[in-house]
Amino acid sequence: AMRVTDGKKKKEEMEGDTEVEGGEGKQVDDIAAGTALKNDELERDDDSGEVDYKKTSGFAAHVTKKKPLNGKSSSTASAFARNKSIREQREYLPAFSVRDSLLQTIRENNIVIVVGETGSGKTTQLTQYCKEEGYTEYGIVGCTQPRRVAAMSVAKRVSEEVVAMVKEDGKRSLDEERDSLGGTVGYSIRFEDQTSEHTVIKYMTDGVLLRESLRDPDLNKYSVIIMDEAHERSLNTDVLFGVLRKVAARRSDLKLIVTSATLSADVFSDFFGGVPIFRIPGRTFPVETYFAKSVQEDYVMAAVKQTLQIHFNSPPGDILIFMTGQEDIEGCCTVLAEKVANLGDDSKPLLILPMYSQLPADLQAKIFDAAPDGVRKCIVSTNVAETSLTVDGIKYVIDSGYCKLKVYNPKIGMDALNVTPVSRANANQRSGRAGRTGPGFCFRLYTDRQFREELMETAVPEIQRTNLSNVVLLLKSLGVKNLLDFDFMDPPPEDNIMTSLYQLWMLGALDNTGDLTGLGRRMAEFPLDPSLSKMLLFAHEHGKCSSEVLIVVSMLSVPSVFFRPKGREEESDSVREKFFVPESDHLTLLNVFLRAKQYKFDSQWCTKHFIHSKGIRKAREVHAQLVDLMEQQKLHPLSCGGRMGRRIGEYINMLSGIPSALHPSSALFGLGYTPDYVCYHELISTTKEYMSCVTAVEGEWLAELGPMFFSVKESYESALKRRQQEREDKARMDTEMLKKEEEEEVRRELE
Ligand code: CDP
Ligand code: MG
Repeated sequence: AMRVTDGKKKKEEMEGDTEVEGGEGKQVDDIAAGTALKNDELERDDDSGEVDYKKTSGFAAHVTKKKPLNGKSSSTASAFARNKSIREQREYLPAFSVRDSLLQTIRENNIVIVVGETGSGKTTQLTQYCKEEGYTEYGIVGCTQPRRVAAMSVAKRVSEEVVAMVKEDGKRSLDEERDSLGGTVGYSIRFEDQTSEHTVIKYMTDGVLLRESLRDPDLNKYSVIIMDEAHERSLNTDVLFGVLRKVAARRSDLKLIVTSATLSADVFSDFFGGVPIFRIPGRTFPVETYFAKSVQEDYVMAAVKQTLQIHFNSPPGDILIFMTGQEDIEGCCTVLAEKVANLGDDSKPLLILPMYSQLPADLQAKIFDAAPDGVRKCIVSTNVAETSLTVDGIKYVIDSGYCKLKVYNPKIGMDALNVTPVSRANANQRSGRAGRTGPGFCFRLYTDRQFREELMETAVPEIQRTNLSNVVLLLKSLGVKNLLDFDFMDPPPEDNIMTSLYQLWMLGALDNTGDLTGLGRRMAEFPLDPSLSKMLLFAHEHGKCSSEVLIVVSMLSVPSVFFRPKGREEESDSVREKFFVPESDHLTLLNVFLRAKQYKFDSQWCTKHFIHSKGIRKAREVHAQLVDLMEQQKLHPLSCGGRMGRRIGEYINMLSGIPSALHPSSALFGLGYTPDYVCYHELISTTKEYMSCVTAVEGEWLAELGPMFFSVKESYESALKRRQQEREDKARMDTEMLKKEEEEEVRRELE
């Protein structure tokens, strides 16, 4: 049973206390008095299953004590934001107050590091300032993002700002083609290019820019490159650092701006030889931080309880919950919605909005809309809302303490997405989100002991914890001979580089001396994992089924297209089984695509068959782009005519020796027997290692295609025969050698 209210709340007092008045930032202690009371209430609820909090003590560092720069109270500030014109909103941002000196610093220096709190306007404003300053007259302004979601959503916002400015200026009329998204402002992410010849502000993922440098090593079309969110230290950003340092050295006309949300920007400045650091002054409000009193077993349920607690007991203000990924976000949203509905309090509506990268873009955009009057907004997000996206009006932050991180598992030589505790730096960024437009509160669903002893100071840069095969192939294609000499800000462990070199050698992309082979060069042309590009090229070499493999690769490049709604699991499973090709999940994917194609990717047909129509259309787009890339390489896909072809037990990974099981979603369960050998696309480690997307293969194929790892073992008789043969061969050789020696001797004697 969920207890939410006990009638003891002292609403007025709390509201009174959190109000900030006339330019005077309220002392943290005063606010603490208001919340200490709430804390007392919580403690009284000990045995009701509520999450129990302890006020932070001795950790004043993350309780911001800065006085706000502007004198407006929080409620006035956000109400103001709602009615402001775009120009007013832009001019209200901290970046605007230093616009001129910032532009001057950029004019005087080719490389500048810009540091500013999240939400100060770095991402949305810097590009526009550069355009307004005239940098787009001889090139375009590029801005890289570690996350696809951020690139898309920020481009959309900036394009709206640009349109609004045109309207407000009234100097020229709107031009549909030029001014909408994809015109002046566009974005480019893998497999999706929303730019045109009009585009002068281009947001893109760091990976896209990295690939562009393959075709144009000097990146000549850019007059300004902004490496945004550098503090995230994503793999591609880190590689870009090394690449762009060289580009900047060659191009004196290029402006390179690196932005970071954390204060430790010295590493970036040092990396470029001591370039200036420009700091945008912050505008933050105090955030009161609470820790759970005891360790929480289930952070989703704990977050739900805390949300209800806030929603029914605390003053207005939106809530931001940090979860790890789609699954726990959806779980959290569903339970929350149920609980709020069951409590039946119509006067207290809660608008629950999920936010994760696989969510359709129109739903993602909803988090930025202000909730109707009297409605509290509750956003449940991945760590994309930590620094990449800023939502105004958040007063309460609930931090699960976890995020999903890609972690390299050297045992299996692959990456896995693991739920991992955040770092203390992440946790502090998260709590800071509550203090952007007014004083706020942060509830950490972990104890202060966990915070101090179990969390790391900062996260390990991605480059030090992931598979580097992609990066290594790319750098090799860029002409980097010795990777150990490359300018990494933090070099990856040598072991990881060696493993990646080995994997690429295995795929035939590198020769025995570590140089790129012709195959490797062609593989690098595809924005795919090396194993997938090899699969494509290999299929083509065999000349019979590259068409089919192209489809399989496209399907593997989009999120699963199978839709398994809650409450209709059995129904959807049985529909899905109709698509199964019993010996292969890969061929099952092919089958689904071909069937959907027969029905012209009709969305009704998809829905009826529990297939995400958007997902499969995405696969179709990816497919079209891969076909283009193949044709550019003068490779024409050929089809084998679509001909496709029984107890399931445990498998042992033949390279690592790790036991692995078939994933329950596999079509191979439909076979009546266990194939001796299978190959898989991905390993998912949960309670055990599961192979996902699996195809049955013949053992001989392995020996034929991977002779360096596999050989066909001979039977006892044939081994005997072979040894006999060897003995005979040796004897014959010995006799011949002897004969030859004798002859030589005779000859020498004769001479
Ligand atoms: O990059 P930084 O964290 O410094 O700030 P930003 O992302 O440029 O955000 C500046 C302002 O734009 C914030 O007040 C955001 O709330 C707002 N914004 C928005 O309203 N809609 C978006 N899609 C993105 C930003
Ligand atoms: Mg930003």
